[in-house]
Amino acid sequence: MDNCNGNIHPREAADKDKMAQIIVATGRGGTGKTTFVALASRYLQTPQLLIDADNDQNLAAMLGIDLAEQGIRTISEVLYDIQDRDSNSYRELHAMPLAQKVEYLLHMDCLYESVDFDMVSIGVKWTQGCYCHPNDILRAVLPGLTKNYTYTLIDSPAGLEHINRRIATEIGAIFAIVDPSAKSLRNVDRLKEISQEIGIHYQNLYLVANHRFTDDMTKRLEQVSAATYLGRIEKDPSVEEYDWHGRSLRDLPSNSPACLSVEKILTKAALMSTPESTKPCL
Ligand SMILES: Nc1ncnc2c1ncn2[C@@H]1O[C@H](COP(=O)(O)OP(=O)(O)OP(=O)(O)O)[C@@H](O)[C@H]1O
Ligand SMILES: [Mg+2]
Repeated sequence: MDNCNGNIHPREAADKDKMAQIIVATGRGGTGKTTFVALASRYLQTPQLLIDADNDQNLAAMLGIDLAEQGIRTISEVLYDIQDRDSNSYRELHAMPLAQKVEYLLHMDCLYESVDFDMVSIGVKWTQGCYCHPNDILRAVLPGLTKNYTYTLIDSPAGLEHINRRIATEIGAIFAIVDPSAKSLRNVDRLKEISQEIGIHYQNLYLVANHRFTDDMTKRLEQVSAATYLGRIEKDPSVEEYDWHGRSLRDLPSNSPACLSVEKILTKAALMSTPESTKPCL
């Protein structure tokens, strides 16, 4: 449906028996969050929504997509135009209540749709002087969108600041992608503390070692009490190669080290039942 009276998403809602589950990748800069989200999307059940919550907006590129070229706008851009009294954009929606207008435009202008996954990008930080509360609005409208999917995967910006935006407060699993640094581990403790302080609930907090860990170093991760260690993402030169050539990481060979690692990690997290690599060839 393409009207603005409610049920505007063209997909069927996710199977009612299966709770729509939000999965968040978090961690310090450059640990491999976006790579993890891109690869996880390959293995998780569809329908799935990917949310790029990072200002840098790398997720689409790692999936071989140029959102702007496809006429897809970021949520920030749309919110900015709605707030800009001088803008001629969206004048025809003048009479619509703000939350309804955002929800409508989210579907119309911000949602990239494909057979494998849908995606929205939050975009750059909110402009100064903004008189509404974009985070509040987003928090209000996102559940209406995410309920249509079995999985929603959020790629976070580096660090912990994003937690304060509280865009999602009911999370199925947080994957903390760590590099071999003491700061990375301290961040996981902080993540747990901040989540409790500001009312973010999650069912599972998982630790994932990034490709820079040695076997010896991963042993320390098994001792971390704040989170459950699930394994390491193996070093894989083809990840950089695909990234460099603008190829989707979803197209990596299924036996590539990074794919096998993510598959194993998701299996341990009970997010996929039969590993793709163990399925019989037809
Ligand atoms: N398993 C891997 N093997 C080799 N290189 C990898 C692997 N995973 C990620 N990389 C490389 O590490 C770099 C950082 O990865 P990525 O962009 O996914 O990290 P990030 O945590 O999302 O970074 P940012 O904090 O900037 O958003 C990229 O150049 C990527 O190609
Ligand atoms: Mg990233």
